[in-house]
Amino acid sequence: MNNFQYYNPVRIVFGEGQIKQLADLVPAKARVLITYGGGSAKRTGTLDEVKTALDNGGERQIFEFGGIEPNPEFTTLLKAADMVNEQNIDFILAVGGGSVIDGSKFVALVSHLKEEDGTVSREQAWDALTSYTKNIDSAVDLGAVLTIPATGSEMNSGGVINYSERQAKLPFGNPLAYPKFSILDPTKTLTLPERQVMNGVADAFVHVMEQYLTYPVNAKVQDAFAESLLKILITEGKAVKENPEDLEVRKNIMWTATMALNGLIGTGVPQDWTTHIIGHELTSLHSIDHARTLTIVLPSLMRELKDSKKDKLLQYARNVWNINNDDKQLSDDDVIETAIAYTEDFFKALDLPINLADADLDESAIEPIIKQLKAHGMTTLGEHKANDLEVSRRILQRAA
Ligand code: NZQ
Ligand code: ZN
Repeated sequence: MNNFQYYNPVRIVFGEGQIKQLADLVPAKARVLITYGGGSAKRTGTLDEVKTALDNGGERQIFEFGGIEPNPEFTTLLKAADMVNEQNIDFILAVGGGSVIDGSKFVALVSHLKEEDGTVSREQAWDALTSYTKNIDSAVDLGAVLTIPATGSEMNSGGVINYSERQAKLPFGNPLAYPKFSILDPTKTLTLPERQVMNGVADAFVHVMEQYLTYPVNAKVQDAFAESLLKILITEGKAVKENPEDLEVRKNIMWTATMALNGLIGTGVPQDWTTHIIGHELTSLHSIDHARTLTIVLPSLMRELKDSKKDKLLQYARNVWNINNDDKQLSDDDVIETAIAYTEDFFKALDLPINLADADLDESAIEPIIKQLKAHGMTTLGEHKANDLEVSRRILQRAA
């Protein structure tokens, strides 16, 4: 196990009916900007529930900013950042999924980057994003009400921002972006379309794989924890498809997705993230849902990198898929291919794509992705920093 520091200050408030806790969680005299997406927060009544809770016991001034897109758009977020300054906002409350929470984190980090005229500087905000926001030293306080379990954004300090004009979808991360608290009420997920429920399970699954499927460093806690999360997602992912109203299943999916990317299983171990980085370009170029880009890329990545990932692939086969080869009936390659095929079957059972053709794309989609990877400096990816453009190209060719 490698050296590490683990710090995560997010207070999690979990369970049905917990939105009312906002009355105690948001400072009583705060000037609060509630941010939300395209309309689900309003339609599902969650926004009203949030406002009622904020009205309770305090002299809070409430403002709203809606319209944060799935794959949150840089230019939209700058408008929210201007509103933070115009209304002297001192607390941002994100109500939504990864897009709203990521977007709100970015607003919290860049709203102080102002031009002379007081508007937020597009150039400075772009420079901040392209340098991963690591140089930002102040941010507006932020809280979250999660409405879709998927990204783990509710309990991490990162996010991903889209800038369509520049054909870019770029990650950022800064400890100042940790939410002060996140409310996880599983009943809020019951209104999700099945597609989004499946997306969430897949995104969480691949988050675990990015931090697990690398090479062994004798990290027994992280490995066992990661394998448990994967097995829960496999069983509960299929269960929620069968019984979408089962709140106990929803609770376990919600908590698993948070645990998949709150940093814990990633402590002291090598991490990959190649699948995500290629996936971001697929979303940016073809507007494919984030999670669905991952299920397209991962199986082909596993096949392309099966030599460098051999030890963990065999461990994954045994501990997650119970492929026991003690009698050596199967070759290691067969064991690995079986585990990859089981992974593909799992994605297909959730109606998720497993190759480019499932997303109506063919080989012609590959070179533009490689060009974007190069433009974004994504040329030495993976746990060994060895996945260059040629490797990314071969992964995509396998997925064609
Ligand atoms: O926009 P609204 O109307 O709210 O509708 C949303 C959106 O259309 C809808 N939705 C959310 N909660 C709902 C609901 N519909 C009905 N009932 C509810 N309770 O679902 C759609 C997808 O929402 P979105 O927030 O985009 O989904 P998700 O949580 O999967 O977030 C995806 C974004 O997160 C980024 C992705 O790149 C993508 O931009 N990620 C963030 C990460 C992080 N912060 O750590 C890591 C991830 O790997 C990922 O990259
Ligand atoms: Zn993801």
